[in-house]
Amino acid sequence: MNTQEIINKEQQYLVQSYKRPNFVLERGEGVYLFDTEGRRFLDMVAGIAVNALGYSDPGVTEVIREHAGGLLHVSNLFHTAAQTLMAEKLIRSSFADRLFFANSGTEAVEGAFKFARKWARSSSGNADKYEIVAFSNAFHGRSMGALAATANAKYREPFTPLIGGVHFGEYNDLERAAALIGPNTAAVIIEPVQGEGGITPASTAFLSGLRRLCDEHGALLIFDEIQCGMGRTGTLWAHEAVDVNPDLMVIAKPLGGGLPIGAILLTQRVADVIVVGDHGSTFAGGPFITAVASYVFDRVSDPAFLDHVKEVGNYLGEQLSELAGDFPIIREVRGRGLMWGIELDESLPVANVVAAAPEQGLILVGAGRNTIRLLPPLIIQQAEVDEFIIKIRQLLKHATQEG
Ligand SMILES: Cc1ncc(COP(=O)(O)O)c(C=O)c1O
Repeated sequence: MNTQEIINKEQQYLVQSYKRPNFVLERGEGVYLFDTEGRRFLDMVAGIAVNALGYSDPGVTEVIREHAGGLLHVSNLFHTAAQTLMAEKLIRSSFADRLFFANSGTEAVEGAFKFARKWARSSSGNADKYEIVAFSNAFHGRSMGALAATANAKYREPFTPLIGGVHFGEYNDLERAAALIGPNTAAVIIEPVQGEGGITPASTAFLSGLRRLCDEHGALLIFDEIQCGMGRTGTLWAHEAVDVNPDLMVIAKPLGGGLPIGAILLTQRVADVIVVGDHGSTFAGGPFITAVASYVFDRVSDPAFLDHVKEVGNYLGEQLSELAGDFPIIREVRGRGLMWGIELDESLPVANVVAAAPEQGLILVGAGRNTIRLLPPLIIQQAEVDEFIIKIRQLLKHATQEG
């Protein structure tokens, strides 16, 4: 099949819920993707914060080869060593005492809501203690539960009614959160750094205030680190920067080095209310995927690797500040580590910039508030950041001249 035939068949056979550019990706190497016509793209998206180790990492390839002939799947009816080992590593790296595997971020969020509701009801004896508080611009997934806690009306409205009892506060507004969190609140869910919503970090005061409010009202604090977690912000977990611990944390995206896996990390008191049969998943945390995830985790959690993310992330931040100085169309740059947003003036829609990026050999993605979202592979080097800056300068120059 040639490139056009592949695109035509995609349009004929697949549900048209994604807007894709008109090229076909074939292979990747490091921070670069290549299409069927041999064109090379610098990838500043990493499969939406998934490919932390980039493409065709020799270590990942090797561990996949090593385990490909072993057990791929046995279901969660049985013990396997790989699953247990992966759980132990994640728990030792975090606040958590227990873990539950999932297949994706959304599935982890769903599980966290179920655990929180069961804990809240059984610890309080209050049957009405099932409410969830989420925040403006939050993104937690697309299933009926996770979508109910996702703020964007465009994603929600065609599918109502979603699960009930979800209330939205204003991100970083503690006073408004205090008015929403009460005796019927089971959990508060928040991204320590919002991704889809526009790369917005929560303030330390907001997160520690939420911690206090949850404790006062017997509610659980859930951190969604699906996008900002596992090295992305320069610390293993994004919330390490603010020194506030949640009761549950959901993670996914980079965990499997490109293979689908998620997890819910939780404290003992929450795990204590979950009994056999309460929750389950056929594929989640199988022996093959956890063997690969275990390897990826060892690489990403290495302090030298995290130092690299901080260093190259600081460098990217400096370059972005300079860029903002040169282009008045840029309203703000914000972020940390290798998670940055470039917010543009409304007069230049980010969708246009993202659509024009491949012409410059660049892959970009947008986020809320007219923001370009930068989530490169965490292995990106300073020279590749320089290449990105040259390309984005070209792109913004063309876009502003055209506008
Ligand atoms: C913060 C956050 N939570 C949840 C999700 C949903 O994860 P998934 O797409 O793996 O289901 C995403 C995905 O973008 C996310 O960024």
